[in-house]
Amino acid sequence: VNENEQELQNNIEKLVTALPQENSYHFRQYKYNGTWFPSFSIRGVISSQLLFQADESDIFLASLPKCGTTWLRALIFSIVNRGRYKPKDSPLLFKPPHDLVPNIEIDHFRDGLPQNLEQLSRPRIFTTHVPYASLPNSIKASNCRIVYVCRNPLDTVVSYWHFLNSMVKNNNASARPKRIDDEFLNEYCLGIQAYGPFWYNTLEYWKVSLEKPESVLFMTYEDLKEDPIFQLKKLASFLGFQFSAEEEAEGLIEEISTLCSLGNLKSLEVNQKGIRLSIIPVSAYFRKGEVGDYVNHLTPSTVETLNKLVEEKFAGSGLVF
Ligand code: A3P
Repeated sequence: VNENEQELQNNIEKLVTALPQENSYHFRQYKYNGTWFPSFSIRGVISSQLLFQADESDIFLASLPKCGTTWLRALIFSIVNRGRYKPKDSPLLFKPPHDLVPNIEIDHFRDGLPQNLEQLSRPRIFTTHVPYASLPNSIKASNCRIVYVCRNPLDTVVSYWHFLNSMVKNNNASARPKRIDDEFLNEYCLGIQAYGPFWYNTLEYWKVSLEKPESVLFMTYEDLKEDPIFQLKKLASFLGFQFSAEEEAEGLIEEISTLCSLGNLKSLEVNQKGIRLSIIPVSAYFRKGEVGDYVNHLTPSTVETLNKLVEEKFAGSGLVF
């Protein structure tokens, strides 16, 4: 770390210390630009805003955690790199999707300084959980393509709860709470969640996708579950990697869909072991993948409260869950 880098880190540290903070479920969150950022990414968010230089060919996958990021990582990687790797030779068979498509703020700028950006092949593919307004300016000013995936907020909160409870420090099955904590749900309703409020994160990308459909493709987890082939074609065309008639006739779209399915990725040894970021078992990214699983985990009154909140927050937007 040279002097300039040290100064940058010191300045970021000063800024972070002065931000409003909450000790929320499992980690500290910092409020910055109207969004709650978790302690493990706030520095990366600020430094990537200052330092990240977008390339016109870059592809960004934006999402809130637990909305289908892992699935889209695998799909986008496979679509874009299909000239280099056939599905049967895919690097996805040997590496977790996160290693092939890293996150800007968590992986590349984790400690405030850029890391491992030089060796990436083109087009570079990144994920981010940052809301549109907080993206580095160089991304917003470019013609880069952004894919946003969202998911029913009730399924998302249930997925998130399971995820947090499978982190290494909570990995004692008998000590895990049996039902979803009220405190966790209350925080979610108040928008105090990683990269939330969820309505703000989603509505921002929704608006930009309507204004600039050539730059932002808005997808949903539910649509992908319902008709993966149709959604894959749409995604490939948006990314500028349209499937040819021959590829379609050969069944390549089905092959990619099968390669990236939850059942397949979950069965691979590489996704059953290993720890990401020192605390997350890689296996925690692959759970059940069902639409409507919330009915098995939330009481009817919680479902009613959450549905009311969702209706209120998304009213008039045209987005319906
Ligand atoms: P569930 O907890 O409901 O099963 P993210 O990747 O954004 O962290 O989201 C994780 C959620 O997506 C989990 O949902 C996980 O099971 C599901 N998921 C992961 N890989 C998937 C895939 N290939 N296809 C469908 N769903 C997937």
